Amino acid sequence: MSAPVIAVDGPAAAGKGTLARRLAAHLGLPYLDTGLLYRATGRRVLDAGADPRDPGVAEEAARTLRPTDLERPDLRGPEADAAASAVATQPGVRAALLQWQRDFGRTHGAVLDGRDIGTVVFPDAPIKLFITASPEERARRRHLELTARGNTADPAQVLAELRARDEQDAARAVAPMKPADDAVLIDTTTLDADAAFARAVEVVRGKI
Ligand code: C5P
Repeated sequence: MSAPVIAVDGPAAAGKGTLARRLAAHLGLPYLDTGLLYRATGRRVLDAGADPRDPGVAEEAARTLRPTDLERPDLRGPEADAAASAVATQPGVRAALLQWQRDFGRTHGAVLDGRDIGTVVFPDAPIKLFITASPEERARRRHLELTARGNTADPAQVLAELRARDEQDAARAVAPMKPADDAVLIDTTTLDADAAFARAVEVVRGKI
């Protein structure tokens, strides 16, 4: 088999980023956090003083995105989360970012994490994982992450924002977040990062 694409999808703070990055290093494959594309697009819309729900501005921001935009230090946090999820509902934005993601994976194989990698971006990927965990556990992790970065965050608000984003990501008309029919589900509610990684390696083994 030529270098494979591994799709790692799932909701926020389920542990998919950590797992995907580790899997990529383990297999010697490039890694792309596709959430960064939506985050950077949302940021560029905010920079322009526009509303991330404005399809014209958002599509233009996605179409003219540069690799260096993904290195901005302000792509995390509640404002960036909400802007990313808002631009991600727009078909024009998704179309503009689709080719970027396909080009990244096509030549040398890759591990990509996101919401629609196994369903839309690489529907033929030989390995698809859907990483999930309970909303409460995900909110607990996100809250820890925020406080570790020095932000003050109210746990109840973190949970509410996470649920709102889940809902918007799963309900949108274009490329909604959902497991592909052939994805393997890994629930990390009671698994630590090492156990989740071991489970993912088990799934991958034998397929590539
Ligand atoms: O994964 P992350 O939380 O960084 O993604 C930020 C937002 O970008 C998500 O809430 C989702 O709306 C959007 N996204 C998407 N499709 C992807 C990756 C991210 O719609 N493949």
